[in-house]
Amino acid sequence: MQESILILDFGSQYTQVIARRVRECRVYSEILPYHASAEEIARRRPSGLILSGGPASVYDEEAPLPDPAIFNLGVPVLGICFGLQAMAHLLGGKVERGLKREYGKGILTVRDPDCALFQHVPESSQVWNSHGDKLTALPRGFKAVAVTENSDFAAVEQRRKRLFGLQFHPEVAHTPHGKKILENFVHRVCGCGSDWTMRHFIEQAVEDIRVQVGGERVILGLSGGVDSSVAAALIHRAIGDQLTCVFVNNGLLRAREADMVREVFGRHFHIKLVYEEATRAFLDGLKGVTDPERKRKIIGRTFIKVFEAGTRRAGKAKYLAQGTLYPDVIESVPIGGNPAALIKSHHNVGGLPKRMKFALLEPLKCLFKDEVRMVGKELGLPDEIVHRQPFPGPGLAVRILGEVTRRRLEILRQADAIVLQEMKEGGWYYRIWQSFAVLLPVRSVGVMGDERTYDYTIAVRAVESQDGMTADWVRLPHDLLERLANRIVNEVKGVNRCVLDITSKPPGTIEWE
Ligand code: XMP
Repeated sequence: MQESILILDFGSQYTQVIARRVRECRVYSEILPYHASAEEIARRRPSGLILSGGPASVYDEEAPLPDPAIFNLGVPVLGICFGLQAMAHLLGGKVERGLKREYGKGILTVRDPDCALFQHVPESSQVWNSHGDKLTALPRGFKAVAVTENSDFAAVEQRRKRLFGLQFHPEVAHTPHGKKILENFVHRVCGCGSDWTMRHFIEQAVEDIRVQVGGERVILGLSGGVDSSVAAALIHRAIGDQLTCVFVNNGLLRAREADMVREVFGRHFHIKLVYEEATRAFLDGLKGVTDPERKRKIIGRTFIKVFEAGTRRAGKAKYLAQGTLYPDVIESVPIGGNPAALIKSHHNVGGLPKRMKFALLEPLKCLFKDEVRMVGKELGLPDEIVHRQPFPGPGLAVRILGEVTRRRLEILRQADAIVLQEMKEGGWYYRIWQSFAVLLPVRSVGVMGDERTYDYTIAVRAVESQDGMTADWVRLPHDLLERLANRIVNEVKGVNRCVLDITSKPPGTIEWE
């Protein structure tokens, strides 16, 4: 059985970060809602438990509190921030309503260098705090092992029962030694080895896929994005020719995108590929349509039709494979309006119609995005796929304002290819979240040689982001911007002006639509 750390989620925006930090220690982690029962937890036989932070107070009427029996399972527990307060409150300590929120950096001083959590952590180091209530008296058997200027109980332990608590957040980058503290918890306290590697994941996944699928056939909708590409390579490794991928060319792709997919999956991996050339169907549907929501709907509907035809051509199959990731399946706890609990629904093509009767195969559903990339790399996918920037399902249609036409697509594709090429050559492409061109169908006057021009405008958008929910524009060097503008205006016929989008999200969105 795989060693694991379970994380109970009390609604912190950092819960997934904790899970990822644990996995970076090469220990598998899973997130459960805070109210998971002690029996449910015991059944999973975790090596340790972490209680996340959260926005609530233990004094709230509906305070999210864990099953008190979890402290008697004999499993080590680490409470973080609210997790510590909930533990202390349930075990007889005292938590007082804070008058003001303690927020920001603090200096942690270790008082008990024997505490397992602080091995190889300096006696004094910076930590990050964000809490309202304050722990003022410890439960019996607990003692303080580290303090900050504002708290005598910044870190506490009950050594015999292996219960620990941190008032600060070890999972965030502002706590530079936090990773070491978590590492100490999972390895020294919980005794976990370092078995969670992507090589190991692949071996196990290949076995699981073979068992699940048996002799049946599998269909996968390949988009060229990271998730479906990695899912395809992984499933192909497990069952070879029992897998058929369906790729829909909707005519809204970036330059050479469709060729690249054929090249990599067809010629390199020898994966059976049904290629649906459907540019005309999409562009006919989009003719005369300018409303962004209608564009999306038409594209979604056309996709389903074309994909269905593709699956028929692929032949009978029992399974439909999808590149679902762990963040899509975590049961989120909506406490105190935590924004991480809001799902980006409008981005996902609203599922396939019920008449398409498939069983689902989702081999990546326990992985975070960075792990999916590592799996892809391990399976031999090129960087161009593994580290590619996100690209919206409706493609260039959301980057052409107003009506989508063949000519506008051609213009945007050329401009976009220049942005991509320059970003790659300048070493920026793989460092940022997204960079692309947008076509504005407004005309303005320019001069080229002796001629007056009256052409379109291209906006360049380059943003940094962790997850697409918030974003900031990238401060690209002026000489790179100069090259972009020069090349776009000189090389792309139909464009005579180039502008840079310097709007953050919020209030802007990343795509213009
Ligand atoms: P916005 O424009 O909402 O975009 O700030 C946030 C992130 O989502 C991507 N995006 C999409 N991805 N299907 C997708 O798979 C879509 O319909 C879609 N629309 C936007 C966008 O590129 C950005 O990374």
